[in-house]
Amino acid sequence: MNECPVTVFPPQIRWETEGTSRIPFQAYTDEQIYRKELDRFFYRNHWCYVGLEAEIPNAGDFKRTVVGERSVIMVRDKDGAIHVVENVCAHRGMAFCRERDGNVEGFTCPYHQWNYTLAGDLQGVPFRRGVKQDGKVNGGMPSDFKTADHGLTKLKVARRGGVVFASFDHDVESLEDYLGPTILGYFDRLFNGRALKILGYNRQRIPGNWKLMQENIKDPYHPGLLHTWFVTFGLWRADNKSQLLMDERHRHAAMVSTRGTAGQSDQVTQVSSFKASMQLNDARFLDIAPEPWWGGPTAVMMTVFPSVIFQQQVNSVSTRHIQPDGHGAFDFVWTHFGFADDSEEMTQRRLRQANLFGPAGFVSADDGEVIEFSQQAFESKPFHRTLAELGGHTVEDTEHMVTETLIRGMYRYWRDVMEREA
Ligand code: FES
Ligand SMILES: [Fe+2]
Repeated sequence: MNECPVTVFPPQIRWETEGTSRIPFQAYTDEQIYRKELDRFFYRNHWCYVGLEAEIPNAGDFKRTVVGERSVIMVRDKDGAIHVVENVCAHRGMAFCRERDGNVEGFTCPYHQWNYTLAGDLQGVPFRRGVKQDGKVNGGMPSDFKTADHGLTKLKVARRGGVVFASFDHDVESLEDYLGPTILGYFDRLFNGRALKILGYNRQRIPGNWKLMQENIKDPYHPGLLHTWFVTFGLWRADNKSQLLMDERHRHAAMVSTRGTAGQSDQVTQVSSFKASMQLNDARFLDIAPEPWWGGPTAVMMTVFPSVIFQQQVNSVSTRHIQPDGHGAFDFVWTHFGFADDSEEMTQRRLRQANLFGPAGFVSADDGEVIEFSQQAFESKPFHRTLAELGGHTVEDTEHMVTETLIRGMYRYWRDVMEREA
């Protein structure tokens, strides 16, 4: 079933120019704009990340997650197929699944115990044929009631390299077309068919608009300035060899960077977040072991619009799922993983390097805070706008990091979709 009702929304917000280098604060503060984003980006025409196959290795394994704000369940059936069904009972609408993950034979809603297969088909309805009393059958479902008409809402599913995406829109283009050849190349670099191994999760709630996290990872300008850890220990610098690449429609991006071997340049030591006296207590945080599949770059940060970031920062690899909740907050779920054939030493290395990330990460704690403080300012003067003009006003791939082109690109796409008639 295709569940994409067309909704009518209020007029557009006002942009200062035809371009996208000045983004109205209202794009982050207006609840109706946000509702329209959910409709246009999360529920129609787009693929959203739901998880990794390695999270549900066995028949009956499931994981509860979201597409936009809608609760969904990713589940593996007895034939190994993966289904994604909406967590809304076909009877009276209860969100029946409360566990975050588990293993089941089927799904049973606690309210009136309607029962569904792992594929989401309705298979049992208590009292369907009524209840016998004094030789007479009372009640029951009408004779024209068909279980086949009342399954759970099923999403379209795409799997590639062990990653699972889903869409409420059964007419959505293929995942490969959606990503486009450039981003697909980097996707396949990370997810090249090897079995994945789940190492753990971080979860955090960030009180800011969901797009700010996309922007944060499309912004190669800040890591070498905001993040003391990166600047001081040299993992990300503005003079690293790098490329910024987008898909044709500029909604996805890859920031590709190769860690420099040069010493500290003046540009670095002059950055106020550089702390010359700072030392690592445990040098193993920087125990980096190059891996053949990197093929050169030491870090590739991929933003797949609208819902996910795929991270490779030296030996730490993770997915970061953006789960919007109202215009002013989102949950951010990190899944740290490795590969099934990793040695124990490599697993420990990946886990140690994961300390950079997550809510208390050496680097990522800073990002959560700047997003929160940005949102606070937007709410205080929604008539104002941001400025994303580093590198000019236009949108193009670059061979350097001193630009906000990826942010302008994302808003080019945003405007194209949001300003279109229904
Ligand atoms: S609401 Fe689920 S069985 Fe009634
Ligand atoms: Fe950052």
